[in-house]
Amino acid sequence: MNAPTKHAKLLSWVDEMAKMTQPDSLVWCDGTKAEYDSLIGKAVAGGVAIRLARRPNSFLFRSQASDVARVENRTFISSRSKDDAGPTNNWIDPVELKATLKKLYTGSMRGRTMYVIPFSMGPVGSPIAKIGIEITDSEYVVTNMHIMTRVGTRVLEVLGDSGEFVPCLHSVGDPLLSCQDDNGLWPCAPLDKKYIAHFPEEKTIWSYGSGYGGNALLGKKCLALRIASVIARDEGWMAEHMLILKITNPEGRVKYIAAAFPSACGKTNLAMLVPTVPGWKVETIGDDIAWMKPGKDGRLYAINPEAGFFGVAPGTSIDSNPNAMRSMERNTIFTNVALTEDGDVWWEGIGYDAPGTLIDWTGKPWIQDKANKSQPPAANPNSRFTAPAAQCPSIAPEWEDPAGVPIDAFLFGGRRPSTIPLVTQAFDWNHGVFMGSIAGSEITTAALDLNVGSVRRDPFAMLPFCGYHMGDYFAHWIKMGKKTPVSAQPKFFFVNWFRKTKDGKWLWPGYGENSRVLKWIFERCDGGGKSVETPIGIMPAPDGIDLPAGFAADDIKELLRVDTAGWKAELADIRSAHYPKFGSRLPKEMTEQLDALVKRLG
Ligand code: GTP
Ligand code: SPV
Ligand code: MN
Repeated sequence: MNAPTKHAKLLSWVDEMAKMTQPDSLVWCDGTKAEYDSLIGKAVAGGVAIRLARRPNSFLFRSQASDVARVENRTFISSRSKDDAGPTNNWIDPVELKATLKKLYTGSMRGRTMYVIPFSMGPVGSPIAKIGIEITDSEYVVTNMHIMTRVGTRVLEVLGDSGEFVPCLHSVGDPLLSCQDDNGLWPCAPLDKKYIAHFPEEKTIWSYGSGYGGNALLGKKCLALRIASVIARDEGWMAEHMLILKITNPEGRVKYIAAAFPSACGKTNLAMLVPTVPGWKVETIGDDIAWMKPGKDGRLYAINPEAGFFGVAPGTSIDSNPNAMRSMERNTIFTNVALTEDGDVWWEGIGYDAPGTLIDWTGKPWIQDKANKSQPPAANPNSRFTAPAAQCPSIAPEWEDPAGVPIDAFLFGGRRPSTIPLVTQAFDWNHGVFMGSIAGSEITTAALDLNVGSVRRDPFAMLPFCGYHMGDYFAHWIKMGKKTPVSAQPKFFFVNWFRKTKDGKWLWPGYGENSRVLKWIFERCDGGGKSVETPIGIMPAPDGIDLPAGFAADDIKELLRVDTAGWKAELADIRSAHYPKFGSRLPKEMTEQLDALVKRLG
């Protein structure tokens, strides 16, 4: 096939990668529906995808058990110096890692087709957008990239003969040696052969051995967060693991909020929230990643670099997130959910009992047994839907505006069963950066290789996504604050929807009811909102939150209580275990904030 570009550097890179990986054939992707249909057809014929009778143009893929989530301990930031990757990233010397990977890549695409995917993160041609070229041997990856990014010939036109691109090499690491198809088995390599490698100085990504999500759809975490965070540091902007939402009050005034919560902690849900407070409206700009640049007026303008949602399926229902449910009615790829007899999908928390005998995510028959509390789930806890953002009923009309939207508030949060109140506002920018730096969450299931149940610090929800030293990343946040005039600065808030009672029940109803907290945040952005100053920050007055009818007075008191003993333990842990990790690269502003808070608590 003739290459649809004259870009010499691109052509020679593709040629070099093809010589190494030795595919049977090479295809330049054009992003058309015909291409999508033919590749999905190939996956169905090979037995790795199932057409869903009950959803137009929708398909189910089931992975192997070793390939159900991002693999954080197989993810590497391979900067020349180990210190530049910092204490929170895995590191291997780039020369050594490339040598290891070249061996694995040699012949890794035999029996397969090599696809070259030109894609844009951000609207094609936008000054904020970045172009990547992903080489992959996976039809699953190409079809998902069609939904999650802007793929096709138009991207090559913008790239021209000499434009910049991020080279993203991906192989499932599972050559078809007998030259047959996958015979129904999801292709990937064993866990100890998987590598998700980033070379920040070269701005290059090499991913090997996994076909799943963030490991394989390289525009997402690898480019738009790990590599982009490095570019953003160098160029003076921000690449963040944040949703972006638009909120309109009953008078028609608008604010834009960006929120960083760790994986599986509610970004998609908050981005698509249906407010329970009458007269308020929430619309979606993005559900996972925000790129923000200072505008001429000094404010931070955010774009969503993605074009689709790769959302968590379990827990998503018409009650909890109707906008997500409607986004995935058609043209959707499901991964590792359960299949019903009549050709639909099902998962835990979908809002109704499992109809009849299902096929679970491992491919075995499964009948719901509510009496058996230890029954393995039918859908993998990290099962996902890939749906076009344009199908979301709550998508904001300006979601693809190349100029972005001006951010009024930053939210940080995580799953914290105790100590952290429902909402706290920071006193100023640096206090807000402090809040982001100490954020943490109880581990659920998003990443394969972590202990469920323990709390881990996840600064700015970027722990697995920052492409350089986390101490320098904090310093970058401080620097962005200095550059932003105070009047143009977003306000910072710490939120926690996940407080629990002693017997393990949710103290706060969450989901649409979170609009009550957003309302207070909106009011605070205008300097209003009934509030009180506390040692940990500005908090709602006892009657500051517009509560659901009949909400227990004791419960809201507990949700807004300053747990002095809990905070003291928290801060002792930050001083002794969290901050020391960053050594001399921890900005002095962070210890100043810590000292001041300890003093305020008395
Ligand atoms: P990633 O895509 O992994 O980055 O996750 P995310 O942050 O977008 O998380 P998502 O919105 O998909 O939520 C993950 C899980 O949290 C789902 O099972 C939700 O049902 C649950 N969840 C979301 N919002 C709330 C909330 O307000 N309260 C409670 N209790 N659970 C929530
Ligand atoms: C996350 O884990 O934060 C995700 C899913 O958004 S993945 O794309 O697989 O990283
Ligand atoms: Mn995410």
